[in-house]
Order: sequence, then C-alpha cells, then structure tokens
Amino acid sequence: MNMRAPTIQRASASLLPFATLAVLGAFALPVQAQDIDAGRQKAEEVCAACHGKDGNTPIDPSYPKLAGQYQDYLEHSLLDYKHDRRKNPIMGAQAKPLSRSEIRNLAAYYASLPGTISNHADRITQR
Ligand code: HEC
Repeated sequence: MNMRAPTIQRASASLLPFATLAVLGAFALPVQAQDIDAGRQKAEEVCAACHGKDGNTPIDPSYPKLAGQYQDYLEHSLLDYKHDRRKNPIMGAQAKPLSRSEIRNLAAYYASLPGTISNHADRITQR
C-alpha cells in the first residue's frame, strides 16, 4: 500500500529530464538547417536508382516508397541503418557514407514529395 506513492514519485521525477529535452527539442527544430534542394540532388544521384525518381516508383515491389513519409521517421531510419541499429545489407551500405546533414536533407526532401501511401505530406510542408 504505502509502497505505491514513492514509486509513482520516482517514476515522474525520472521522466522530467526527458520532458525538458522534448520541450527544448521543439524549440530547436526550426533552427536546424535543412536543405530540400540539396536533398533532391543527392536523392537523384543515388537513391532514385532504387526508390524511383519520384520516391513512389521503386524498382522492386519489396523496396519501400519514400515519398510523403514522415520526415522524422525517414531521418530516424537512415540513422538506424547508418549505425547498424536497423540491419539491411543494401540500405546499410547506402546510409553509411551519408553525413548527418545529408540525412536531414534527404529526409526533408522525401517527406516533401506527394506520397501515395498516405496523405499527410500536405500538412507537414505547405507547398
Ligand atoms: C540499391 C538499392 C537502394 C538504394 C540505392 C537506396 N535504397 Fe533505400 N532501401 C532499399 C531497400 C531494399 C530498402 C528496404 C530495406 C529494409 O527492409 O530495411 C530500403 C529502405 C529505405 C528506407 C526505409 C523506408 C521505410 O519505409 O522504412 C529509407 C528511409 C531509405 N531506404 C532511404 C534511402 C535513401 C535516402 C537513399 C539514397 C541515399 C537510398 N535509400 C538508396 C534499397 C535502396
């Protein structure tokens, strides 16, 4: 019975730093430079070969469509491939040479494209 209260207190105290980081992160977002045109250039040079020029026409049905996916999901996925947290021999090789800002730009570019798997893109980027 009297074990309950301290447990909850401890739990919420340990969440505080994360809540603070989340708030700071929200303020930091607009400052992070992202360059959709640079993303487009890199995408056309490298990624289009497999994911299609429009991000919707992959060369194989098992290759994912990137257009219109959430920017943070794309960025997170690329970082995971880069650091072997998501393991795939093809994408691991693609993501390893990408810099942090290239990843940010590529994610911003593909998120800005009209997707065929969801229609949230118009809400993220007003184009
Ligand atoms: C040689 C073919 C090939 C190239 C080139 C390639 N990809 Fe991929 N990509 C794949 C395959 C195959 C997968 C699915 C891997 C898996 O199952 O995790 C994938 C998955 C992804 C995913 C995960 C999508 C999801 O829905 O989870 C992202 C993001 C991605 N690629 C981005 C890129 C970017 C950005 C580039 C260019 C720098 C690129 N890819 C170049 C083949 C390729």
